[in-house]
Amino acid sequence: MREVFETKTDKEEVARQLRFIEEGKQIVLNYSEQEGHPLTACVVTFGCQMNARDSEKITGILANMGFHMTESEEADFVLYNTCSVRDNANQKVYGKLGVLNTYKKRNPNMKIALCGCMTQEESVVEKIQNSYPFVDLVFGTHNLYKFPEYFVYMMKRDGMFIDIWESATKIVEDLPVIRKYPFKSGVNIMFGCDKFCTYCIVPYVRGRERSREPEEIICEIEKLVSDGVKEVMLLGQNVNSYGKNLESKTKFPELLRMVEKIDGLERIRFMTPYPSDFDDDMIAVMKESKKICKHIHLPLQSGSSRILKRMNRRYTKEEFLDLALKLRRELPDVAITTDIIVGFPGETKEDIDETLDVIRKVCFDNAFTFIYSKRTGTPAASMPDQVAEENIKVWFDEVLALVQNCAKERTALLQGQIADVLVEDVNSHDASLVTGRMSNNTLVHFPGDKSLIGEIVTVKLEECKGFYYLGKQL
Ligand code: 5AD
Ligand code: SF4
Repeated sequence: MREVFETKTDKEEVARQLRFIEEGKQIVLNYSEQEGHPLTACVVTFGCQMNARDSEKITGILANMGFHMTESEEADFVLYNTCSVRDNANQKVYGKLGVLNTYKKRNPNMKIALCGCMTQEESVVEKIQNSYPFVDLVFGTHNLYKFPEYFVYMMKRDGMFIDIWESATKIVEDLPVIRKYPFKSGVNIMFGCDKFCTYCIVPYVRGRERSREPEEIICEIEKLVSDGVKEVMLLGQNVNSYGKNLESKTKFPELLRMVEKIDGLERIRFMTPYPSDFDDDMIAVMKESKKICKHIHLPLQSGSSRILKRMNRRYTKEEFLDLALKLRRELPDVAITTDIIVGFPGETKEDIDETLDVIRKVCFDNAFTFIYSKRTGTPAASMPDQVAEENIKVWFDEVLALVQNCAKERTALLQGQIADVLVEDVNSHDASLVTGRMSNNTLVHFPGDKSLIGEIVTVKLEECKGFYYLGKQL
C-alpha cells in the first residue's frame, strides 16, 4: 500500500517552530552580550536548486534569531547543507570539516551543523560520529523545518545532537525565508522521487514523491510576488509527474496555467522534467504561455537504449530523440539543456557513440556532463562491470568537446537579436557591467550599474563570447 502524505502545511508545527525562533533569539542575544559582539553565522550550500532553497529557509531562521549572516566560515555558527549525488561532493565536505575544526580550536564557542542529503546516509552519520566529534548538530532532509528547535537544543547542551528521519509525512512551509536574490525565488512544488534510476541516491535520501497542494503553491507565489519576486522556479525532482498523490490529481500543465494567472509575476521556470512524462499538454502550455521561460532542462543521461534500460530510465534512445526533435519543431526558440553520465557500469565505446549521436542530433544548448559516481546502496553500485578509469577519461573528454561545440553553435544563432534580460548582479570581473539572464537562460553582460538589478531590460546581443553575450541596453 502507498503511504499517505499530508499535502498541506501543518500550521500548528509552524507556530511551534516560531516559538523556538523566539527562544533562539534570546539565546543569541545573551551570547552576543557575553561575547561583546554580534554573533555571526555562515550557511554553505552544496548541490542543487532544492538545497539552495533549503538554505534560504535556514538563513531566514538564523537571521530572525539575530545572527549576522556572513560568507566567512570563521563564524560563530557554520552550517553545511550537503549534497550526496556524487561522491566528490561528500569528500569535499569531509575536507572542509577538517578546516572548520581548526577554526573551532580558535573559537571554542563556535557551533557546527550538518544537514542535507549526505546526512541521510547511515555510513556518513557513523563517520561523523567517529571522526568528526567536534560537529554539534546533524539533521536530515525530512526534518529541516525543526531547525529552530534543534538549534535551541544544541545551544543548551554539550556533545553532538543527531536527528535523522527515514521518511517524511508532513509538509511545513511558511517559516521565515531570506532569499539570496530579492527578485527571484525557488518554490518547492514537490519533494522526493519515485523513479529509482539505478545510479541515483536521491530516492533514498529525499524519500518518496510528495506533491504540495496547488492552492498552497499559488498562495506562496502570490506572497513572493508581493515581496518583489518577478521570476519563480518551480522545483521538484520530476516536476511533470506533479500531482499524483493529490486528491485533486492536478497535473503539472494545469499547475503552470494557474501560476501563469498570478498578476505581477513575470517569469516561470521549472526544474526538472522527466523525458517520458513530457506530454503534448506540456508543449501546449509552453506554446500558449507568456511567462514560461524558453528553456527546458531535459536529462538524457545516456543515448544508448541498452544503458538507459540498465539505468532504469523509462525511455529509449529513439523515444528521447522523437521528443527532443518534436520540441525543436514545435518550440523553435526554446533552449534544450541536459545531463549526461559517462562511465555507467557496463558502458562501452558503442554506447558512448550512441550518446554522441543524440548530442549531435539534438544539438543541446548546454549540458552538464558527469562522470559516473558509485553510490553505495544504489543498484548500479553492485553491478559487476564497472568501467575502467582510463576509458572514462577519454570518453568524458569526447562527450564534453561535442557538447561544448553544440552549445557554442546554438548560442551563436542569437547574434544581433534583441532580448529581454533579467538583471541579476553587477559583473564580478568588471564593475562597469551587469549580468543578466535571457528567458532561454543564456547569460548576457552589458554596461549598467546596480540600480538595474532585479529589472527586466531590453538588450541587443552584440558579441557572442562562446556561451554568453556582450550586449547593449536599448
Ligand atoms: N553519478 C554521476 N552523476 C549522477 N547524477 C545522479 N546520480 C549520479 C551518479 N551516481 C547526475 C544525473 C542527474 C544529475 C542531477 O546528477 O545526471 O540528472
Ligand atoms: Fe535520481 Fe532518477 Fe529521481 Fe532524477 S529521476 S532524482 S536521476 S532517481
